Amino acid sequence: MTATLFTGIAELVTNDPEANDAGATDPGADDLLGAIEHAALVVEGGKVAWVGPARDAPAADASYDVAGRAVLPGFVDSHSHLVFAGDRSREFAARMAGESYAAGGIRTTVAATRAATDEQLTAHVARLVREMQRQGTTTVEIKSGYGLTVRDEARSLAVARQFTDETTFLGAHVVPDGDPGEYVDLVTGPMLEAARPYARWIDVFCEEGAFDEDQARTVLAAGAAAGLRGRLHANQLGPGPGVRLAAELGLVAVDHCTYLADADVDALRDSGTVATLLPGVEFSTRQPYPDARRLLDAGVRVALASDCNPGSSYTSSVPFCIALAVREMGMTPAEAVHAATYGGAAALDRDDVGRLTVGSRADFFAIDAPSHVHLAYRPGVPLVAGTWVGGRPI
Ligand code: NIG
Ligand code: FE
Repeated sequence: MTATLFTGIAELVTNDPEANDAGATDPGADDLLGAIEHAALVVEGGKVAWVGPARDAPAADASYDVAGRAVLPGFVDSHSHLVFAGDRSREFAARMAGESYAAGGIRTTVAATRAATDEQLTAHVARLVREMQRQGTTTVEIKSGYGLTVRDEARSLAVARQFTDETTFLGAHVVPDGDPGEYVDLVTGPMLEAARPYARWIDVFCEEGAFDEDQARTVLAAGAAAGLRGRLHANQLGPGPGVRLAAELGLVAVDHCTYLADADVDALRDSGTVATLLPGVEFSTRQPYPDARRLLDAGVRVALASDCNPGSSYTSSVPFCIALAVREMGMTPAEAVHAATYGGAAALDRDDVGRLTVGSRADFFAIDAPSHVHLAYRPGVPLVAGTWVGGRPI
């Protein structure tokens, strides 16, 4: 096995508070991000073998100079809907002219997705995954949810599985047509059966106009019985029972969390369920941003993700979400970077990614900037200079 030493790292974000280093650029970053200035990193067998100050770096078989850039753990984008066809730019333009967002737009994408071939869907996901990697994402969760028939949900997940192990069955996205009760029977019966071999997670859009609390419980219980772990879309468009349900069931994560009552925040804190915030949605739907400050101050675990989908958030860019979270949601740059790396890993119950510590996967990226702060300080600038997955450049 070849050991490669990465040198010339202006700032290394480890997400290991033990790796503390005095004098980092962002106050508070030391504690949260375990940032090391003038650092080095050794990669061996696709994993991190050593991290520390450059002056203490061990000898290695090969070396690579990142030339004064900051290096961060790859983003863990724990919420995306990449398997789809078609385009809803007209719907976006109408919103920017004053229309409001409605979950019913999902059906437009369902029709286009059903009409696409497997090859078309696969090529489209490949394009979006490449786009994500170029922006620092090294782990992505991908949901189904634009098929909504047994065949189309199963093939959506089979496509997603070619790109990630973090696949989520979202047959309960909306009721495509007909009787809601019959549709829940389909989702929890033959559709779940067909989806199961390709899925790790099961998700429900628990919201007015989609699925209510009882239906969400039914779907999550059927998923659990089939060996799938639950997560929820909840409290996106208004207050509702979804966040408390996620906490009650001890789900790993509940996503959106835009409209929260105090009892929701308390429930999240007590359960340890990760609140995944998706500011691309509020940007693209002109709704109020979720209050990350309130959640962090209450001791809730927070993740940031793209929710990349053609309706409510057609961005593949986690750096864009970080910039929004810092500007609009009360997060510091360090908190936002932490939420998009360590937080995303927590939202997928993973401890091998989202950090750069000995034994973790060597998934990281370098930016054309001396510190992580620039991700929010220079919004919209393509700062990612290189991305490595399992120690290999991509
Ligand atoms: O996460 N909230 C539900 N589902 C997606 C939006 C889907 C769409 O509008 O196509 C979301 O925002
Ligand atoms: Fe979503």
